[in-house]
Parts: sequence; C-alpha cells; structure tokens
Amino acid sequence: MQILHTIDALRAALPGPGACAFVPTMGNLHEGHLALVRQARTHGLPVVVSIFVNRLQFAPHEDFDTYPRTLERDADLLRGAGASFVFAPQESELYPQPQTFKVHPDPAIADILEGHFRPGFFTGVCTVVMKLFQCVQPRVAVFGKKDYQQLAVIRQMARQFALPITVEGIDTSRADDGLALSSRNGYLSPEQRQQAVALSQALRQIANRVRLDPSSLHVAEAEGAATLMAQGWAPDYLTVRRRDDLLPPDAGDLAGPLVVLGAARLGTTRLIDNLEF
Ligand code: PAF
Repeated sequence: MQILHTIDALRAALPGPGACAFVPTMGNLHEGHLALVRQARTHGLPVVVSIFVNRLQFAPHEDFDTYPRTLERDADLLRGAGASFVFAPQESELYPQPQTFKVHPDPAIADILEGHFRPGFFTGVCTVVMKLFQCVQPRVAVFGKKDYQQLAVIRQMARQFALPITVEGIDTSRADDGLALSSRNGYLSPEQRQQAVALSQALRQIANRVRLDPSSLHVAEAEGAATLMAQGWAPDYLTVRRRDDLLPPDAGDLAGPLVVLGAARLGTTRLIDNLEF
C-alpha cells in the first residue's frame, strides 16, 4: 500500500482514469470505513482511500480543529483491509489558494435536513468530493448510507455533471446495540455511549409505526422526538422522507420505499442516523 501526499504523486502512481475504486474519508477510521473498502475491493480494481479533513464542510463553531487526525493508525487499518493507495494531502496541497470556485448543489435536496441545520455543509462536501474525483478519477466511488443525504446529493451531482463514476451506497455498520458507527461516537462519555442507542431505537419505532399505520406518520415523528427529549437529547429532526429526493412523502408514497432520518445532540455531540423501510 502506498501513501501519497501530493496530487502529482497520486496521478503518477495510479493506473489511469477509470481504473480504480475510491473511498473518500476524513480519517479516524472505524469498522464502517473498512466495510466501504471491502465493498470497493469487490470491483477487482485497486482501491484508493483519501484521508482529508475538509475545512469547507465545517461551520466556524464546529469541530474542525479538534477532529481526530490519526493517519498512522488509519494507514495500518487500511493496509489490513487491502487498500492499494492512501491519498492524504495537506490542506495546502488540496487548497493551495482559497477555494473560491465551489460546487453549489440544488437547494431542494441540499438545504433541507442536514443542510438546514448546517448551512453550506453540502457545498463544502460537493466541492471537495468533486475535487477528489478529479484527482483520483475513479470508476466507482463508495459511500456509506449512514450519511444518507450526502449520498443522495453526491449521486445527483455525479448524474448532473455526467461524471463517469458509479456512486455506490452501502448499509450502515452498527455496534452490537444498534448504534451507527461514527467517528464522532468517540466524543461520547461512557454514560452517553450507553444512551446513544436511543436514536436508532427511536427511528426503528417510527418506521414500525408508519409501516403498521401510515396515517400515524406525524404523530410517530413527534412522539419519537418527545421520547428522545425526555431522555435528555436535543433533536434537530426525526422525519420520514422519500428515499430518492428526501422530500416528505405524499399519501400515495406511504407504501414505500421510505427512509426515516434523525439528527440529535446528546450533550455536545451531534449524532445522525437513518433507517430505510
Ligand atoms: O463522509 C465524509 O467523511 C466526508 O463528508 C467526505 C465524503 C469524505 C467529504 O469530506
């Protein structure tokens, strides 16, 4: 496995356009990232993993400065998972001058849910992913469904810009108790870690209720949020959406396929999760 820090070195090492599979990450890897690498390997192409904490997708009050940078450990994990190349540029390499040209995704999908609570987030994500796509020129890029809206936004970006890249989404990896794996779980105290499963449980309850009785949708969403609040959470949203455009379902959509998405803060840690049903 080669670790490359510059775009020139990456391009020189790669077999050429459309000849690799790609997993973009911000590092601090866990089993969920390694599952993405395993999926990428199924294409029989060399797998490139990028590790880059992208300032553009963090608001000033968010955790850009404290986001864990663990390159050595990440590289060991990626070697074990069978990645061929790690692309780990410095900020000065990827953004040698202020990145004033940006990719602004359609507000219809990017300014709702996460984009509503984190304005500009998806512009930051799309800009860096587009740039990484230019550097790596993969045939396939693999993303986790844990960041469900991110996957939907990137799929639309790839489609609308006719990128020659298949965007694949894979199921969320979970701890034994059901908590979705996330780098930010590391911010939780042991007590909060025990409570954290309540988010996935609330999503499961909403999905079960809506499956049984679609007319209970809004009550189920409100009661899910109330249950979390009673346990000390501060929910941003718990909401059932159509899977493709993430808009609220019409009466005719309620037979599915749907997804319930949630974001909530436990102490100072903001967790997101979702469940297709
Ligand atoms: O999902 C992430 O880790 C990031 O949003 C991504 C796709 C690597 C872009 O910085």
